[in-house]
Amino acid sequence: MNKHPLSTNLVLVGFMGSGKSSVGRLLATYLGFRFVDTDAMVVKKAGQPISEIFAQRGEAAFREEETAALRSLVGKQLLVVATGGGIVEREENHPLLHEVGFVVALSATEEVIFERVSRNNKRPLLQTPNPRATISQLLAKRAPLYEAVAEWHIDSTTKTHAEVANEIIAEARRRTADGAEC
Ligand code: S3P
Repeated sequence: MNKHPLSTNLVLVGFMGSGKSSVGRLLATYLGFRFVDTDAMVVKKAGQPISEIFAQRGEAAFREEETAALRSLVGKQLLVVATGGGIVEREENHPLLHEVGFVVALSATEEVIFERVSRNNKRPLLQTPNPRATISQLLAKRAPLYEAVAEWHIDSTTKTHAEVANEIIAEARRRTADGAEC
């Protein structure tokens, strides 16, 4: 697989439960890149879990920290970056995502997302009386943003993480081989 090194970082965007972290870790293993997760960076810097940041300082404070984490990655190399599902909501993050690397959006059907995110209750935005409806509303708002910001999209609904990772690498290689796009 690792025929020649990729000359770009990979940046994964997508809704909660779309597979960014799992696919991102695999990508990093396949490429020999470092895996970083903006959520984990925020948690480490704040010294508290995301649920506490939301509860004590509010979502806006989390978004500030998220942007700072993303900005700190600009100029770094050999990275696979998984981002939080809401990173696309701030317009100032869009150029930053592109500065960090080749932006790929992962998607999955609403049913699959619901099934995946129901496995844990760590996500503050889904602590609502009707998480399924919340997912629907957030997806409706964000789908066009993922669409707009990503250079390439892949639906992970019926694919294994390994299949998704291999397809992303193939696409990134196609683009870097042409030399033009990333
Ligand atoms: C969020 C998604 C989470 C995390 C935070 C907010 C969102 O990341 O950043 O709970 O707004 O969709 P994941 O997409 O990794 O779950």
